[in-house]
Amino acid sequence: MSFLQQGVSRTLGRSVLHNTRHSTRSRTLFTKTTSAPRSPLRTSLYATAFVVSTGLFAVYYFDARSAVHRYVLTPVLRYTLDPETGHKLSVKVLRSGLGPKDPVVDDARLKFELWGDEVTNPVGVAAGFDKDGEAIDGLFDLGFSWVEIGSVTPKPQPGNPRPRVFHLPEDSGLINRYGFPSQGHASVLSRLRARLPTFISGPEPASLREGSVLAVNLGKNKESPVDSVDDYVAGVRTFGTYSDVLVVNISSPNTPGLRGLQNRDHLKGLLESVVKARDELTPSVVTFRKPKLVLKIAPDLDEAQLVDMAEVIRGSNIDGVIVSNTTIQRPSHLINHNKHELGGLSGAPVKPYSLKAVRTLRKNLPASIPIIGCGGIATGADVLEFANAGASMVQLYTSFGYDGVGTCRRVKDQLVEELSKTGTTWSAVTKKAIDELSWKEPPKEEKKESTVSQLISEAKELKDLLDKLGEKMGQDASHPPSPVTDRETEGAAQEIVA
Ligand SMILES: Cc1cc2nc3c(=O)[nH]c(=O)nc-3n(C[C@H](O)[C@H](O)[C@H](O)COP(=O)(O)O)c2cc1C
Repeated sequence: MSFLQQGVSRTLGRSVLHNTRHSTRSRTLFTKTTSAPRSPLRTSLYATAFVVSTGLFAVYYFDARSAVHRYVLTPVLRYTLDPETGHKLSVKVLRSGLGPKDPVVDDARLKFELWGDEVTNPVGVAAGFDKDGEAIDGLFDLGFSWVEIGSVTPKPQPGNPRPRVFHLPEDSGLINRYGFPSQGHASVLSRLRARLPTFISGPEPASLREGSVLAVNLGKNKESPVDSVDDYVAGVRTFGTYSDVLVVNISSPNTPGLRGLQNRDHLKGLLESVVKARDELTPSVVTFRKPKLVLKIAPDLDEAQLVDMAEVIRGSNIDGVIVSNTTIQRPSHLINHNKHELGGLSGAPVKPYSLKAVRTLRKNLPASIPIIGCGGIATGADVLEFANAGASMVQLYTSFGYDGVGTCRRVKDQLVEELSKTGTTWSAVTKKAIDELSWKEPPKEEKKESTVSQLISEAKELKDLLDKLGEKMGQDASHPPSPVTDRETEGAAQEIVA
């Protein structure tokens, strides 16, 4: 027993003895008990100590960076509750307004422009954590610049039977087969409406925070026809007014047939329909504009499929792509026995697949279409890897589940540290990578050829006209007009084009 423990137990022992003696002395059979008068000084000392320690704990608790969240509360939740109950409890805490907060203003090095608007930092929370839009402000308070709620399905549905979420701690991974449990459009819509202030004087982002983005991720009911796009169109119409971005999620592995919509022919029809529905919306009463449309894809598409997909995206008016959702692959290095569970794998094991897909897509999409990287991001260095692959910003989910409420702040701090080493900014890093790696419109050879031949024929016509003019005017035979040869005409034309 340590010195401290011995001291404490002696003191406790003494106080128990003292109390026992005291209580036998003061109690008689029929008379009321009396207690010794308390010293007012001691009482006020206790009260002060209590108030100060409660205050200190509150300050400590509300600071999302506190170690207690990462090393005590989050592991306790993980070991004492099943994964889904732990998830639900976290949403409830963040919803209550009693969640911790990121107390630090974002470093200026992190800000960047997305679709012409300034965003304060490049770290967002991915879809699936707040499926029904209950904890939007609690999540923004943790420092995320992009909060994505959903996936939301038109009709409420329960999702797959439990258990449907499995931890793989040794692999820093997670497998889920939630299957879109959703309270449905109506319920989430009423929550989004309730969040709005009663009076809106001018345009505001739907996030209601400068430099932040609120996205609604649209899913599809399990009973809806496999290749129907109606659920997505309904989502665009329902949430267009209340979101900055709408995400068309066709990449969840847990809804039968959903990923088939990523095939070229289906995708073309889907994108045309959602873009049309978005364009037909009247501008939002909150943002005074229409939402951006973003597609969320799987990390399991091969190069040819990604190239096809990029071509369809280039021909559509989609504004961006999230790369990626969870994977159905099971890399051979996985350790935890849960690796055999069915569902989508997320966290560290998905990172190589997502990064590869980002690189392939970046090569095949123009710089004007941003890619949002997602999959296995847990540190500032991971974020930079996605930036160097051509992402404009990133999202995370699984590392947030493992490392707790301070994850966003920690990742941002690490990123600032990385950027400071080379004296650069997030904007500069992403711009360089995107400019270098993006797809560029190939030079229009045919057009050039047709311009050359057009010039040649025009020059020939001109020559004929001059000849005729010369003849007509009956010019002096000793000063005939110098004949222009075909070769000279061609040469002149080539020079003009070059
Ligand atoms: C438990 C869980 C539920 C998810 N639910 C959804 C969802 O409803 N819609 C969606 O688009 N993505 C969903 N995702 C995928 C994440 O948004 C993200 O794309 C994926 O997990 C990869 O990121 P990560 O490795 O940082 O978790 C879910 C992921 C997890 C772990």
